[in-house]
Amino acid sequence: MRLKDKVALITGGGGDVAIAIAEKFLANGARVVLVDLKPELLAAAAQKLNAGAALATVTGDVCHLDDMEAAARLAVSQFGKLDIVVPCAGVIKHMPIDEMSLNDWKWVVDINLTGTFVTCKAAVPFMKQQQSGRIITISSVGGRTGRPKVGVNYAASKAGVNGLTMCLARELGAFNITVNSICPGPLAGRMTESMPPENLKALISTACIGRLGRPDDIGNAALYLASDEAEWVTGEILDVNGGVYI
Ligand SMILES: NC(=O)c1ccc[n+]([C@@H]2O[C@H](COP(=O)([O-])OP(=O)(O)OC[C@H]3O[C@@H](n4cnc5c(N)ncnc54)[C@H](O)[C@@H]3O)[C@@H](O)[C@H]2O)c1
Repeated sequence: MRLKDKVALITGGGGDVAIAIAEKFLANGARVVLVDLKPELLAAAAQKLNAGAALATVTGDVCHLDDMEAAARLAVSQFGKLDIVVPCAGVIKHMPIDEMSLNDWKWVVDINLTGTFVTCKAAVPFMKQQQSGRIITISSVGGRTGRPKVGVNYAASKAGVNGLTMCLARELGAFNITVNSICPGPLAGRMTESMPPENLKALISTACIGRLGRPDDIGNAALYLASDEAEWVTGEILDVNGGVYI
């Protein structure tokens, strides 16, 4: 019970990674609010997690500050506080730059980077008031090394998430709020299923541990960063990727 009585808000709540993180948090005593654009994915997540009153779901768009402020308020009104925030919503749309439209660029950067900013902005006032909090952003190995075939939109958005994380850690340390980023390598699930097989093969081929990651691998890392054991860890970019460094 490493998160007993903690309250967490996780965006992209209908997705593979968010569900794995929610599962770890709930199993360790937390109460969780899941936010997603798609109510049908939230319903499926709630059914899978089967957590009763410890779980709330809310439909919202991470690009809209109103939606995210409402989600943060819901966490506080339903569960009394907001201890942990995981901006996990993300999309990928990969193509060479000469085929990438401005809209392709903006769509990915808006959700992955601006959505992370908006989610943090909505949560921080509650955390400052409490003088405590944990923010765990979800970046990607693509934002660390510019992996082949992820697209410049995705790589730039995730590098931006890491910059936001390091800067926000400095800004919020005085309020006892830690801010860390997890950079997953390629994981089994919806996001990699959408990739052409040759792109996926290229992604895995350079790993030290030659398998796709599991959403659970990211859940374990998030549980550590959310727990008391990580109270002196902040501004950290944690690679969880089976050893994919190029
Ligand atoms: N799966 C991987 O291989 C991998 C690797 C590295 C990083 N990541 C990162 O992990 C995070 C989660 O990925 P995943 O594999 O669970 O993806 P996923 O596609 O399974 O889930 C993403 C979720 O985000 C939601 N979403 C999209 N736009 C939204 C918006 N504007 N507002 C609210 N919700 C929105 C989607 O509806 C979906 O439920 C992403 O940030 C992704 O970039 C994933």
